[in-house]
Amino acid sequence: MTQGSRAATRPDQPEGAGLDAGPADLPPGTTALREAGGRAVLVAHAAGQWFAAGALCPHAGLPMEGARVRGGDVICPHHGARFCLASGRHRGPPATRGLEVFRAVEAGGRIRVFLP
Ligand code: FES
Repeated sequence: MTQGSRAATRPDQPEGAGLDAGPADLPPGTTALREAGGRAVLVAHAAGQWFAAGALCPHAGLPMEGARVRGGDVICPHHGARFCLASGRHRGPPATRGLEVFRAVEAGGRIRVFLP
């Protein structure tokens, strides 16, 4: 099992919400928008770890689809805001606040996301 970012477990989903994606769908260094637990999330595969985050960029509220992974960060495709995948913290302008992040794990060939 490979573990990514932090978040509490939702009581109604102690095993996390399954994503319609597995490791083969997301090679290292890639991201994708998927649905988990009834909401859109950005899932990222970076340095052998899985991460999940909110699907909308906190800068202008645009979808993070197409975001690039650089090291342990994800970069918004619209105006280049950069966020730490582990903490969600923004690295500087144009974002003025961080990205919501969730714990993500790979188990049994599927990715699971733990939503608050
Ligand atoms: S919407 Fe993401 S940087 Fe502007």
